[in-house]
Amino acid sequence: MQVRKAVFPVAGLGTRFLPATKAQPKEMLPVVDKPLIQYAVEEAYAAGVREMIFVTGRHKRAIEDHFDMTYELEVALEQSNKLELLEVVHSVKPKDMECIYVRQAQALGLGHAVLCAQRLIGNEPFAVLLADDLMIGQPPVLAQMAEQFQEWRASILAVQEVPVEHTRRYGIVAGTLVNDRLMDVTKIVEKPAPEQAPSRWGVAGRYILTPGVMHEIATQPRGVGGEIQLTDGIAALLRREKVFAYRYDGQRYDCGSKEGFLEANVALALAHPQLGEGFRNYLRGLEL
Ligand code: G1P
Repeated sequence: MQVRKAVFPVAGLGTRFLPATKAQPKEMLPVVDKPLIQYAVEEAYAAGVREMIFVTGRHKRAIEDHFDMTYELEVALEQSNKLELLEVVHSVKPKDMECIYVRQAQALGLGHAVLCAQRLIGNEPFAVLLADDLMIGQPPVLAQMAEQFQEWRASILAVQEVPVEHTRRYGIVAGTLVNDRLMDVTKIVEKPAPEQAPSRWGVAGRYILTPGVMHEIATQPRGVGGEIQLTDGIAALLRREKVFAYRYDGQRYDCGSKEGFLEANVALALAHPQLGEGFRNYLRGLEL
């Protein structure tokens, strides 16, 4: 069964990036030359997803505009024969990709944001991508997970090993190893203290979930931080269905933090086909 739908929770306030996010969504912050949300959407597209569902809030119009047609710009580029740039503009939203927007009126947590897409998801498996986590992998991380989903027909969570002092930043899973990349999850806890963490396997912002999780989220009380947590919904799902944690092959940049955001910019600039070489030379010349 193909994963055709993805949910992008983008209603967060982005307070960690103030003042940059005072009047623009944090998901529109560019890493080199593309906004964060575009990396996540491209990753979903590469995994075969064609229906992108954005759970937005107030002050997030720039995201809708980004994935819309920009008529004046396109006409101007065409008239001045800047066809390469026109191609760049067109590639933001391939013709077979659909974008749907639903509002999360109150910021009640990640689980609540996902639940806002319940009617659009219906009875299908779906992906959740947190654009803050910029994932670089070959094949892209969500495509790796979609392959696992095809094989196991069960929810798949992307995980990585995290330092023990960072367990408070993640959903942490524990379970039995199926192979060197896959774990049959028996436990998942949101942001535990190091001494309470059942392992050091932290969930990164990529999920493929079966639709049953919606019902579980809907019946969860508020969890960590007074929020309705996706992790708690998954913990409840575990009692009915198998859930797997998949140790992805790739690199995650935590672009919700300034350090991670800067690291992503440096890494992607170095890997950029046009900018890479010049930027490497520039860095070498810095007297650090
Ligand atoms: C969210 C999830 C957490 C997950 C993390 C990955 O937390 O609640 O389980 O490990 O994303 O980035 P947030 O970073 O939104 O606080």
